[in-house]
Amino acid sequence: MVSLIGVSTLFSFESYQDFLDERAKGAAGIVYSRVRNPTRDALEAKIAFLEQADHAIGFASGMGAISTALLALLKAGDHLLIAMCCYGPTRALCDILLGRLGIEVEYFDVAESHDLSGRIKPNTRAIYLESPGTFTMQIQDIRAVTRLARAHNIVTIIDNTWATPLYQQPITLGVDVVVHTATKYIAGHSDVTAGMLACNADLYRIIQPVAEILGGTLAPDDAYLVMRGLRTLAIRLERQGATALALARWLQSRPEVQRVYHPGLPDFPGYELAASQMSGTSGLFSVALHPPAPDAAQHAFVNALSYFSIGVSWGGFESLIMPIGDSYREAPQIRRSMGIQDEMYRISVGLESLADLIADLEWGFAARKAVLARME
Ligand SMILES: Cc1ncc(COP(=O)(O)O)c(C=O)c1O
Repeated sequence: MVSLIGVSTLFSFESYQDFLDERAKGAAGIVYSRVRNPTRDALEAKIAFLEQADHAIGFASGMGAISTALLALLKAGDHLLIAMCCYGPTRALCDILLGRLGIEVEYFDVAESHDLSGRIKPNTRAIYLESPGTFTMQIQDIRAVTRLARAHNIVTIIDNTWATPLYQQPITLGVDVVVHTATKYIAGHSDVTAGMLACNADLYRIIQPVAEILGGTLAPDDAYLVMRGLRTLAIRLERQGATALALARWLQSRPEVQRVYHPGLPDFPGYELAASQMSGTSGLFSVALHPPAPDAAQHAFVNALSYFSIGVSWGGFESLIMPIGDSYREAPQIRRSMGIQDEMYRISVGLESLADLIADLEWGFAARKAVLARME
């Protein structure tokens, strides 16, 4: 198998007429890599195929894809409805940048997603989902949202990173634009930051020129790395998903555990909805412990782990853990809506063995218990 990386920033021509002919193709012309590059083309074709979309665009980050989608589809005076559980910087983009541009942003609780009709206004132009959410894995009713949106000529966007196109194809559920941080599962090796957007031909005609102007498209070397990751996505996801579900079940049996937030557990709210929208579950979930331990014990818990590294991001081949109980303290409405508990950890399961991960967490629980005992 041959892999070509077209690193050139420009493409030269035998004659000026050849150049003019290529440039006349617009976005389809191979003239300048910010606009079109053969390596990025190859990746975009694969993602479009997986998402069952007409087109895809590769970006230098997930935020590049998200910001381009929102900036391309919204203008001053428009109203955006967005799920409260969205990724923090997506919220910052809406609150800071879109607000400054005169776009009205309104958040809705995930529980409302089955009927958002009361929130639709004459100027509602877009609804943005992130399902599952990536803190407490909240599931939104994608079919209900897209049915309503289509009836009102509203465009729908979804962050599909958690499920990946292998486990959820939102376009088949009526969504218009799918965005990803390919930094997570799609690339899978924590060695490249990338984003993807997939949509139909009509919206591509609106979004592609904005991607070109904003200039955040994916570099060819990085496009190659994402493609290399994509080759093993199916087996990584299968293994990471299975280990995560088994670990989630094991955690449910622990006395310290108050609740496990994993859409593959039958007692998870939204379990049936998740099963009706997704064909599998990936490796990111959260767990709340009780009674909530002071910071010193929480630190001891994560510091004691050796297979789980302490770090942001997720979806790579190595397991990660992050205390998230302090998130959104300054925003009680978001905290409540996302169901964040005082002692909570987000776990991204990698490719390690289940036995090793269980042994590691047992070790962490013992360290936490030792600190709590000293405090008594
Ligand atoms: C759900 C979700 N969407 C989008 C992003 C942004 O992706 P990137 O860091 O590639 O810009 C992240 C990053 O963590 C994320 O978790």
